[in-house]
Amino acid sequence: MLEWKRSRKILLCVTGGIAAYKIPDLVSRLRKLDCEVEIVLTKAAESIVSPLALSTLSGRRAWLQDDFLSDKRGFEIPHIHLADWAEVVVVAPCSAETASGLAQGRAESVVAAALLATRAPVVLFPAMNVHMFEHPATQQNLRILAERGVRVVDPEFGSLACGYEGKGRLPETALILEEIAYALSPRRNLAGRHVLVTAGPTREYLDPVRFISNPSTGKMGMAMARTAWYRGAEVRVVLGPAPRVGSTHGLEVHDVVSALAMRDAVMENLEWAGCVVKAAAVGDYRSEERVEHKIKREKKDSLTFSLVQNPDIAAEVGKNRRAGQFLIGFAAETDDLVQNARAKMARKGLDLMVANDVSAPGSGFGADTNTVRIISDDDETQFSGSKEAVADAVWEAAVRRWLP
Ligand code: C5P
Repeated sequence: MLEWKRSRKILLCVTGGIAAYKIPDLVSRLRKLDCEVEIVLTKAAESIVSPLALSTLSGRRAWLQDDFLSDKRGFEIPHIHLADWAEVVVVAPCSAETASGLAQGRAESVVAAALLATRAPVVLFPAMNVHMFEHPATQQNLRILAERGVRVVDPEFGSLACGYEGKGRLPETALILEEIAYALSPRRNLAGRHVLVTAGPTREYLDPVRFISNPSTGKMGMAMARTAWYRGAEVRVVLGPAPRVGSTHGLEVHDVVSALAMRDAVMENLEWAGCVVKAAAVGDYRSEERVEHKIKREKKDSLTFSLVQNPDIAAEVGKNRRAGQFLIGFAAETDDLVQNARAKMARKGLDLMVANDVSAPGSGFGADTNTVRIISDDDETQFSGSKEAVADAVWEAAVRRWLP
């Protein structure tokens, strides 16, 4: 977990969409990050989600429309006080009515007035009936808001409360949290850059049901991808067969299975990439022949496979690099960490190598934390922390060299 995600000040505006019933979960997740959450409800939202539930979860009394221009809660002016206090303003769900009011700059509700008054980034999650969402008026309002710098996050496709099937669902809480993190991210120094990440293991099939693989879970590579996105990069991930942990929101994921398929996907995207991060644990060998039917154990006491070497994708990328392209590799080692990592770095033509001792406790395959050496031609630093924090430290080192 990156420290800057914690203890932030979030103004959450809840407006009249049925999806408002999901918001208590979001509040609870934000509180687990020690964030302070102020909540404002429109009149319509009050009839959908309980202000008491939201107040209890946030630990603060939610602001209601009755508090607007009222002295019931003292002489605080809620829309100004909240607008100034917030580090990010989130409107979830955002009704067609609220989007329309915002586009026109209206200020008849606490929510509308706070949104006019704030200088903090605003993230909007429209959620409504598909026809209302697709209506040219709604689309125009959302476009106007996006042009003014509001981040408008598309609703998801699926079954809607009104009985329709279509685009209009409020995204899952994990995605909303990712968007809040994106809005709060302290650095955008990869804005406009293209980052290609390989992550996860590869699988080399011996027959249709058996394969050779390794315990990589893709967590480190996905953390590299996510933290690049937080910094503003466009990110593509070539992901081996690892279970999806956490949100992949903001990332374009290309699933592959074998090392050969991973190589093809990397080569297809190489022209596009400004930086390539090779975090995948690529299988070094594959079976020479692929048996088409399941090998039966009857009458076979032993099996012999002839293995051939897979291409070294990192080395191939290093050989074909274009000017200005930056290459980052990962080296999982069990001995002579730095020496081995430096040799690989030179052999594969990489600019930065992240070496970790996979035999150390709390490090390497599957763990949520990592201890690494970040190695470049002229420097070497050690870093320990969550994989996300390690990834961010790698970007810090990479940006200094790639984009001085
Ligand atoms: O497996 P090895 O220790 O050589 O991995 C070092 C780096 O090379 C890693 O960044 C890994 O993703 C990459 N690699 C690759 N293709 C291979 C083997 C490794 O891209 N076949």
